[in-house]
Amino acid sequence: MSMQKRKILVTSALPYANGAIHIGHMLEYIQTDIWARFQRAQGHECYFAWADDAHGAPIMLRAQAENITPEELIERMNAEHQQDFVDFGLSFNNYATTHDEINRECVEMIYGHLEEGGYVVRRTISQFYDEQQGMFLPDRFIKGTCPKCKTEEQYGDSCESCGSTYSPTDLIDPRSAVSGTEPVMRDSEHHFVRLSEFENRLQNWMTSGRLQPEVVNKMQEWFEDGLRDWDISRDEPYFGFKIPGTDDKYFYVWVDAPIGYMASFKELAERENLDFEEWWAPGTETELYNFVGKDIIYFHTLFWPAMLMGAGFRTPTAVYAHGFLTVDGVKMSKSRGTFIQARTYLNHLNPDYLRYYFCARLGSGLGDIDLNLEDFVSRVNSDMVGKVVNIASRCAGFIQRGSNGKLAAELPEPDLYRKFLDQRELIADDFEQRNYQSAIRRIMALADEGNRYIDEHKPWQLNKQDDQQAKVQAICTQGINLFRVLMAYLAPVVPFTAATAAEFLGVSLDRWSDLDQPMLDVSINAFLPLMTRVDPLKIEAMIEDSKENLQSSDEPATPALDLADEITIDDFLKVDLRIAKIIDAKAVPEADKLVQLTLDIGGEIRNVFAGIKSAYKPEDLVGRHTVMVANLKPRKMRFGVSEGMVLAAGPGGSDLFILSPDDGAVPGLRVT
Ligand code: 2FM
Ligand code: ZN
Repeated sequence: MSMQKRKILVTSALPYANGAIHIGHMLEYIQTDIWARFQRAQGHECYFAWADDAHGAPIMLRAQAENITPEELIERMNAEHQQDFVDFGLSFNNYATTHDEINRECVEMIYGHLEEGGYVVRRTISQFYDEQQGMFLPDRFIKGTCPKCKTEEQYGDSCESCGSTYSPTDLIDPRSAVSGTEPVMRDSEHHFVRLSEFENRLQNWMTSGRLQPEVVNKMQEWFEDGLRDWDISRDEPYFGFKIPGTDDKYFYVWVDAPIGYMASFKELAERENLDFEEWWAPGTETELYNFVGKDIIYFHTLFWPAMLMGAGFRTPTAVYAHGFLTVDGVKMSKSRGTFIQARTYLNHLNPDYLRYYFCARLGSGLGDIDLNLEDFVSRVNSDMVGKVVNIASRCAGFIQRGSNGKLAAELPEPDLYRKFLDQRELIADDFEQRNYQSAIRRIMALADEGNRYIDEHKPWQLNKQDDQQAKVQAICTQGINLFRVLMAYLAPVVPFTAATAAEFLGVSLDRWSDLDQPMLDVSINAFLPLMTRVDPLKIEAMIEDSKENLQSSDEPATPALDLADEITIDDFLKVDLRIAKIIDAKAVPEADKLVQLTLDIGGEIRNVFAGIKSAYKPEDLVGRHTVMVANLKPRKMRFGVSEGMVLAAGPGGSDLFILSPDDGAVPGLRVT
């Protein structure tokens, strides 16, 4: 593997300094960390610069509520966050806060360039003001009745009930969420960045070929809507940096947060003697990657590159977005105990378990990732413990006892070793493309081969014969070498386990290129427990502990009706409901409840099994209309594949209604 040494800077989004880290955050940080560690394992120079996002109204208000200064709050949070991250094995090279002098200098310098370039304009706008609290109210701090659907207690920017968006002044009976009083309108001058000035440059950057297609599509939509001026100032009181030349105006937190990436790197550069210019000058060959959640793409693909362009810096090589974390298929929930804080997880379970599981599920797209707790247990146990660690534990004892810890001088099957190495580039490519699940599939397929090799050669049988010791040593030398390759591939994923494995093997697992030479004729150390099986009882305990957090949180008590988790109108609109005409219906003899329906949804024919035999004779159904969920994932049943679901209402039994008569409804018509 010969390649040029790359210089790579990666970041994760900066966590807000007003709350604890939870496993939803960890998904992104683990994704970033695996990538950074992987790059270093290829011999590249790779830094992970990071920080707390310490500014903004919520942080100011939280400090007020705790009766401490914002500085005290962010200092405490910073320490807690860093401890969580170290304990999860995140290999960041610097951890700063956006509330520091280096960041202030960077922000003022970038703002200065934007001003000089003529990109900043001032305009007076009118906004809601809380007279009791003495502050302008951000949209999220205003509540009232939705002007469209009249649902009460909605935020100032959008209605969670009907999904409409509006401006806070459209709300009926608006209230300040801070003091509960009725806000008044007040004028103030704001600073705006003229984003439209950057449109061409942003479009060029967008087509640089590194962004995910979904991200490019999103950006295209924003361009089509036209780029509006970006309001970058906030009035006092605010916790942030003052805008130079003003007495009472602050930079909006989303100005200094991404600049915090640069400032954290600068701090690192000063400490480690790196050339800041080389990393941030336009046209540089160094690479910059920002890993972010899909909810903050806008800030990272418009505001952030625009600021860099306006100030004469390089732009990100790519912004890599990922989806959200669900637990057991639904949003993390405090009442279910699945809103799991990083610290709660660490109190019960090995961080490498979660790192491995996330890795095995992550792809390069924006789809959500599910932590299915049952699958978590079985995946980690069968892959990591049952396959990978198993190879080492099956071989180590024989080498220790039979050969005094010494490996043989030759591999009995060099071709098998070569086969493991032949996968190196493909696996590297998967990691590079953030197609981690594919990398894991390849690694586990190799682990299966390793186990097969040992199964076939049965060292435990040969070991019973005195004259077979050399053979046992050879087989186990092969096994240990295969294990070493697997562990090196997995080291970016499970760093704690890899560190123990390196101690046992007596070699570093840090560089994939070291694998060119197998370990021969050297001593290994006594076997160390590498990873134990996930204990399901510990998961239960973790869930229980996460439920206990509820008492101290402000989440409303469990509702009387045990409803599934609330969905937004956007979620609902994902359900594609179509009018379907029943063109054939047959009883399913093997099932008492099922009818097999052939549905026409206007140009497409679907086969659906529906549990309505108690209410209808199949022959009575033909020719009538129903409503079906047309985009339900096809499900394999005993009698065939069901390609959707029909909707029904009624008390059940024979009173179950799914149908309208043949009344001229149009098959295929979408009703959501
Ligand atoms: O959404 C958030 O949690 C922000 N604190 C992320 C900031 S990322 C960067 F711009 F600093
Ligand atoms: Zn509404």
